[in-house]
Amino acid sequence: MMLRLLLAGCIIALPVEVKAQTATLTGRTTRSGIYTSAQADKGHEIYSLSCSSCHSAATHASPAFVSKWSGHVLAELYQYMNQEMPKENPGSLSPKEYTLVLAYLLKMNGMPAGPMELPSDPVELQKIRIDLKPVRDSLPR
Ligand code: HEC
Repeated sequence: MMLRLLLAGCIIALPVEVKAQTATLTGRTTRSGIYTSAQADKGHEIYSLSCSSCHSAATHASPAFVSKWSGHVLAELYQYMNQEMPKENPGSLSPKEYTLVLAYLLKMNGMPAGPMELPSDPVELQKIRIDLKPVRDSLPR
């Protein structure tokens, strides 16, 4: 009886807002192939110039990073980088450059590339859920 009530509550709480023009992104996660490898490659270059003085790949693919960001939406990570990084000069990259770096971060975390470019639009990034739970066996060593 209790369980039935709980289930009913969950169903009612499901988001019903699905706009036609954005339906392709709905239900997407970082595992859905949401960036291209070309984006990640460019992101790698930017990262080397603007981020690697303070960070290594280990910062962004560590268990702490994974548990901190998993379950959030990509817009939050994007916004964090955009507003806080690079630490000594926040917001100094263009929106497109932050997107490329974000693609590289996803690659560092073993997320698959795909045919579709990662957008810079925060509204679109809001629809992609971060799912970094490790599939460590498949990561290159
Ligand atoms: C001058 C040093 C410095 C530079 C350059 C820098 N960062 Fe950071 N970054 C930090 C520090 C320090 C933190 C820890 C949080 C804080 O103190 O604000 C951090 C935290 C982060 C986090 C959060 C990590 C977590 O575990 O949640 C991300 C993501 C990040 N940086 C991305 C970047 C990116 C992308 C760039 C390049 C565009 C960059 N940082 C450049 C110093 C730097």
